[in-house]
Amino acid sequence: MFERPRGTNDWGPEDMTKRRFVETRFIQLAESFGFREVSTPTFESLELFTTKSGPGIVPQLYTFKDRGGRDLALRPEFTAPILRFYVNELRSLPKPVKVYTTGNVFRYEEPQKGRYREFFQLNAEIIGGDPLPSDAEVLALAIGTMRAIGLKQVKVRIGNIGILRSFLPFGPADQALVLHSLDKRNFEMLESELTRLGRKDLSEPLRKTIALSGDASILDAAAKILGGAGSEGFRYLRDLAGLLKAYGVAESDYAFDMGVVRGLDYYTGMVFEIDSPNLGAEKQVGGGGAYTLAELFGGERVTQTGFALGLDRLVMAAEAEGAFEPARPLDAYVIPIGEGTREKAVEVVTTLRNEGLWADIDLIGRGPSKNLDYANAIGARFAVLLGERELVAGRATVRDMTSGAQREVALVDLVEAIRSP
Ligand code: HAM
Repeated sequence: MFERPRGTNDWGPEDMTKRRFVETRFIQLAESFGFREVSTPTFESLELFTTKSGPGIVPQLYTFKDRGGRDLALRPEFTAPILRFYVNELRSLPKPVKVYTTGNVFRYEEPQKGRYREFFQLNAEIIGGDPLPSDAEVLALAIGTMRAIGLKQVKVRIGNIGILRSFLPFGPADQALVLHSLDKRNFEMLESELTRLGRKDLSEPLRKTIALSGDASILDAAAKILGGAGSEGFRYLRDLAGLLKAYGVAESDYAFDMGVVRGLDYYTGMVFEIDSPNLGAEKQVGGGGAYTLAELFGGERVTQTGFALGLDRLVMAAEAEGAFEPARPLDAYVIPIGEGTREKAVEVVTTLRNEGLWADIDLIGRGPSKNLDYANAIGARFAVLLGERELVAGRATVRDMTSGAQREVALVDLVEAIRSP
């Protein structure tokens, strides 16, 4: 027997109904915000991800050589592929370019509940807008998606990595290592990197700063600790709060948090993470922010901002909050009884289906009572029994599977009888 690979999942019908529901809510909301769908390959050149994804992601890549000797990697996320696509082909579109995508991504992580090696993201990006309105728009879409799914417990943490970067007088590679240690709250690594760089004095202010989280007053506290660095970044966050209010985002929905550092290396401005407090250790359901990749991939300088929500975790959060409504049931299950009724039964089920009803038909030739058990087990609203004698009279027996009530209906009235009983 074969086991599925570690860190992967099979999803049964009940799971898929929930997953499609969540994905559809995101897609509908993104479309209603003017985002358009794109799709990129499942694997890319390895270099696309080693260029700027940073020390957090590179060791987690699934890499392989194809038969032509090319170095490839399964996508660990969508932002780098979408920006590659943008620079190569979408640059001529009118700005801003607002795109979304959904699909599977791969990271070699230590699997646990809510953390997988293949998982699914709902991803949106805005390229070429002005920074502030674009950042606010992506935040509104991310938070709006959570609301559209029916999640009540949403906690957004908003920071600005530009502020931390302006405080770190190092080149990009060293900045990445310091930021990575802050993201992981790995203070041993932080000390050793800062010692190596001869700036051990930065350790204390950095640690104090990333511990700050709360309302706008923490921005003053952080500004004081950082002694004048990042003043523009602090002003930016205050302006962002004004726009979020206009979007109808409640102040209780988010906090400013100087400790949002993000695991990916390309962020340069506003950054955010969204938690669902119900989920335990892997409670982060989404993250994003403003970044710089287009220039790196050979494009011009434009504003880039976006986010990804983890589909697997969103579904878990919705389950924890009881947000899912019961799935739409099958309207009718058609049961041919006796010899010579099958063709007529197929005609009946086809008519129901053509009328937009969800209808199934016996495929095994079971007896009527076993078939009624089956109709019950699959949750059909009605069973339609077609016996030889009834067919001759142009009629069928319709059984309400909830109440057990049965009545004879003329075949010409069947659609109506099921549609509005
Ligand atoms: P990320 O924070 O690496 O951001 O991933 C986004 C979300 O994917 C996380 O918040 C989490 O819900 C989910 N996730 C991450 N790893 C796993 C895992 N191993 N198992 C299950 N779910 C997971 C990005 O990927 C950026 N590309 C987001 C972005 C778009 N930034 C700008 N544009």
